[in-house]
Amino acid sequence: MIDFLVASVHHLIVFGIAAVLAAELALMRPAAMSPHTVRLLGRFDAAYGLLALAILFVGFGRVWHGAKGADFYLDNPMFWAKIAAFGVVGILSIRPTMRIAAWRKRLKLDAAFVPPQEEIGKLRRILLAEIHVFALIPIFAAAMARGIGY
Ligand code: HEM
Repeated sequence: MIDFLVASVHHLIVFGIAAVLAAELALMRPAAMSPHTVRLLGRFDAAYGLLALAILFVGFGRVWHGAKGADFYLDNPMFWAKIAAFGVVGILSIRPTMRIAAWRKRLKLDAAFVPPQEEIGKLRRILLAEIHVFALIPIFAAAMARGIGY
């Protein structure tokens, strides 16, 4: 029962992260940026941070307390490929998070502040890369759960 509940929460968090990344991508457009969009991006990015922490917590909870036992995962290269992809997504997200935070600070000093177009374009490309690496994670997860490469 606990395993079922934790697995369900794991999936819900994953869909939450996908939704937040899609929302950030939709907002991160040079042509449509406004002070309000910057505030929204700040909120979505905070949600992203919380959800990323939650999936780490729940994910490792499944590793240590799941039905299959920790060794099933820790000895499986697909598990480590999944963790590596998750790490790459995390590393890619550092710059957008820092820039969005900086934009919000600027907005407090200047209520009409709009970020420079080239910077928005750069962050959009990083977000796209993030989403593509994120898409690899369920593939590694499916392989890992079935002991492929074990
Ligand atoms: C670092 C954080 C994470 C850890 C430690 C983790 C760990 C796990 C574990 C232990 C399972 C159970 C597999 C089984 O039934 O044997 C699982 C399943 C799954 N995870 Fe994660 N996970 C993490 C993050 C993610 C993320 C970010 C995604 C999606 C992008 C994801 C997608 C999935 C999917 C789709 C399954 C179901 C696989 C299947 O049964 O076919 N996980 N995860």
